[in-house]
Amino acid sequence: MDQEIKIIKRKVSGFVGFANLPKQWHRKSVRRGFTFNCMVVGEGGLGKATLVNTLFNREIIAPKPVEELTVEDENEGVEPVLKIETTSAEIEEDGVKLKLNVVTAPGFGEAINNTDSWKPIVDEINSRFDHYLEAESRINRSAITDNRIHALLYFIEPTGHSLRALDVQLMKLVHEKVNLIPVIAKSDTLVDEEVEEFKTRVMNDIKYQKIKIFTPQIYENDDEEVTANCKALIASFPFAVVGSTSEVQTPDGRTVRGRAYPWGVIEVDNESQNDFVKLRQLLVRNNLEELKETTSDVLYEKYRSEKLEKMGIEQDNTVFKEFDPLTKQEEERALHEAKLAKMEAEMKAVFQHKVSEKEKKLQRSEADLFNRHGEMKTKLEKQIQLLEEKKAQLEKQKSLPVQPAPATQQKARKGFLR
Ligand code: GTP
Repeated sequence: MDQEIKIIKRKVSGFVGFANLPKQWHRKSVRRGFTFNCMVVGEGGLGKATLVNTLFNREIIAPKPVEELTVEDENEGVEPVLKIETTSAEIEEDGVKLKLNVVTAPGFGEAINNTDSWKPIVDEINSRFDHYLEAESRINRSAITDNRIHALLYFIEPTGHSLRALDVQLMKLVHEKVNLIPVIAKSDTLVDEEVEEFKTRVMNDIKYQKIKIFTPQIYENDDEEVTANCKALIASFPFAVVGSTSEVQTPDGRTVRGRAYPWGVIEVDNESQNDFVKLRQLLVRNNLEELKETTSDVLYEKYRSEKLEKMGIEQDNTVFKEFDPLTKQEEERALHEAKLAKMEAEMKAVFQHKVSEKEKKLQRSEADLFNRHGEMKTKLEKQIQLLEEKKAQLEKQKSLPVQPAPATQQKARKGFLR
């Protein structure tokens, strides 16, 4: 029966203490530290490693050794194999610890035929969800490690045209599983007008293809500054970025992180020159927790409910909106039962396989015995026939009249008998 709950809003007189909750939360979070799992995908040489290192201002991913760049010619004609690699780093800033896991997919888009290059990437995202789902259904859930991908940075080649088929394919396959953040790589290779035109084209393609990209939430109680900042970020999608960890001198004598060209300097941290600062805000400074929350509450929940549905477990969509421990418990029980049923089915299959093997073996030995029996029977029949023939011969001889023995023989017989 639905009960009507009355909520009375009152201000407390005197300090009770729950206003300290955010501080308690802060202390707990700082003590525990934070984890962030970011996947970085794009063709080779688009500046992925450089951008990650620029974002965290230290070497997270080691740059490719020069030898590896020079042996490429020797490997001409050899199909590159797409691998999934994870690089972990523990970084600390003002006493706050962050465990950063960067997942890369070297070899993506580098084969002659890239039809299946999305597969290892999608498999990796799914398997991380599966591990989490499995960990959640264990009896001890106190120490679940969250290995789910919280954001996927997708690097678009700065062609100035539009998205390629491979870009669309990959983004469409992952956009409902991860917070997708597309970026235009090495934007310093395009002039400002080209960047703006390219951004419009890419955004049009993204809308046309109905690709969902991560968009920060604007809440009712956000102040004006936060709202304006959020809107500015959204208006600049997709971010056109420049990465560099090297310091260069500007013409007015400043030392900045950037790239120096004969015609001038591109400053990484200058918002009027590229969108690196906006990307850092979205990914690290303002929305890191939101990225994790969306992963957990929206993307993972969707994956989880689809998975359970596939296993034959009905789900009520309201579960996403309100956390109900009873429903959760029921789901876990159902999940456990589904697992047991799967195990039972597997065991049955193994048993049946073994039984049919045994049956086949028995059939084979039965056929063997039958053959041997047949052979023996023929052999015996032949022997019987031979004996019958001999018997017939003997009987024939017996029936012949007895001939008188020659005289010498008769004499001898008489002498012997005497
Ligand atoms: P793979 O390991 O092959 O996947 O390459 P990657 O995408 O990690 O690229 P990486 O960071 O190794 O950079 C490749 C080259 O591009 C290096 O010479 C970088 O200095 C250069 N580079 C990186 N970022 C930029 C950029 O924003 N602009 C320009 N012009 N060059 C860049």
